[in-house]
Amino acid sequence: MPTSSADSPARPPAALTAHEVVAGYGGPPIVRGASAQVGIGEVVTVVGPNGAGKSTLLKAIAGILTVETGSVLFGEVEIRNVRTDRLAGLGIGYVPQNKDIFDPLTVRENLEIGGYLLPRSKVHSRIDDVVSLMPALRRLLHRRAAKLSGGERKMVAIGRALMAEPKVLLLDEPTSGLSAELSNRLLTEDIGNLARSGTAILLVEQKALAALQISDWGYVLATGRTVISSSAKTLLARADLAEVFLGHVSDADTDDLDAGGAELESPASSETNRSKVVGR
Ligand SMILES: Nc1ncnc2c1ncn2[C@@H]1O[C@H](COP(=O)(O)OP(=O)(O)OP(=O)(O)O)[C@@H](O)[C@H]1O
Ligand SMILES: [Mg+2]
Repeated sequence: MPTSSADSPARPPAALTAHEVVAGYGGPPIVRGASAQVGIGEVVTVVGPNGAGKSTLLKAIAGILTVETGSVLFGEVEIRNVRTDRLAGLGIGYVPQNKDIFDPLTVRENLEIGGYLLPRSKVHSRIDDVVSLMPALRRLLHRRAAKLSGGERKMVAIGRALMAEPKVLLLDEPTSGLSAELSNRLLTEDIGNLARSGTAILLVEQKALAALQISDWGYVLATGRTVISSSAKTLLARADLAEVFLGHVSDADTDDLDAGGAELESPASSETNRSKVVGR
């Protein structure tokens, strides 16, 4: 039975669970057994050095890359290798690291496209909701996407994903290209608002400290494997945090952390076998 303490809080029911995922680009796998879970209303951050496989893991969860082995559960439903557009319909939003938006369209039109699954009558009120969640979008609504800065484009890409009212939002480097002020606002205000509204947020972030400070849980990925799973608070308190972020953690370090109350995900294989499979 999981126990909870101030440093290792009990976690809410899982919104999305990746278990022992193996994925890559056709050659030897890049992600070689990565696990991560995000609970309802949680913010969870995956950190790790450049090239560790963080984006590859999100792409595999989001149905962009094939999951060779392992499982991805949405609640208790197996969604491994379900196409991205079907995942959007189920309530899983994904904003890639290098998302592009439609240049010839205005920001409002880009948001409307994000709401293509909504009934027509709901699109405009949802734009209002999204602007309330991300107030920085308000002054951009009538601007043409081609004329936005890289950071502004990123905000629009996130807003567009929010249009579909996702239950789980996968965000790959959402603050890249944003000014320090906008990064701070996105992490501390917008993402917090979203989580409080019940959205589960799985974040990959270069600004690891800032991201962990607003997170409930953190995972460290090194060379394609999850090497640490811990409350964000426990992770932030580690004396060897810099080494952790660079992926310089040995099994012994991980064992120490486990003894301190953090844990890698327990095997979900029996759960997986029982779970429903959603076909492509
Ligand atoms: N399209 C691709 N085809 C082949 N290999 C790729 C492709 N994209 C990424 N890789 C390789 O996969 C490995 C992991 O890349 P990935 O983008 O997942 O890392 P990351 O942890 O997100 O790094 P970063 O922090 O720099 O964003 C790298 O060695 C990279 O070269
Ligand atoms: Mg990346």
